[in-house]
Amino acid sequence: MVTPLIAGNWKMNGLGENLAEAEATARSLAETPAKARVAICPPTTLISRMAEALRGSAIELGGQDCSPEPSGAFTGDISGAMLRDAGARLVIIGHSERRAGYGESDATAQAKARAAIAAGLEPIVCVGETLEERKSGRAVEIVTAQVEGSLVPSVTAPFAVAYEPVWAIGTGLTPTLAGIEEIHAAIRAALVRGLGEAGRTAPILYGGSVKPANAAEILAVPEVGGALVGGASLKAADFLAIIRAV
Ligand code: PGA
Repeated sequence: MVTPLIAGNWKMNGLGENLAEAEATARSLAETPAKARVAICPPTTLISRMAEALRGSAIELGGQDCSPEPSGAFTGDISGAMLRDAGARLVIIGHSERRAGYGESDATAQAKARAAIAAGLEPIVCVGETLEERKSGRAVEIVTAQVEGSLVPSVTAPFAVAYEPVWAIGTGLTPTLAGIEEIHAAIRAALVRGLGEAGRTAPILYGGSVKPANAAEILAVPEVGGALVGGASLKAADFLAIIRAV
């Protein structure tokens, strides 16, 4: 059984005043529990304050990136242990904005996922094709290679994968439901090939312009085990509508 996960990715958005949105989400979930696991990945600077504000809530917290190293002379970097110490239980790894903006490869994502697991965090490993790759008919091939290259071999600890087509992130565009189904099936097949039975239980999230209006149809697609939500996770009302679509 795959337990669905709805995770909000706040990216580089959020100051102390925005904790109120997370608190509003928590209040609603306390009244009516979600059918999915719910997580918020705020900027690192807000994790410990959000952990305080949401104490006792079912909402889990996550980081947006972590170092492949456990500690040391890496100015500006944040380790998995630091995220966990601040109150995070998950961490986004290999987001396309890190792959494109900071040259992160599959090998980097794998090293980061390994470090995250060693620190007791659940990585959400992101994969997804660019528009050029999709247009050339290579989306399945590209995403399968990313999964194989980013996956921690013989992992038994919990992890998730997020399929986020680069061209769907922040654009309002989404693949067809059949297109999402095709890629998610390919990801599941790659996970089972690589990990055997352990590859069957990891949730495969869809991400890229998920909003209240399209969440229910996307979440109903076979092998879609939740969503990674950027823009629409910043406001409690929108994020809750997506959570309630499970
Ligand atoms: P979006 O971002 O929902 O704003 O498209 C998703 C993501 O990048 O995780």
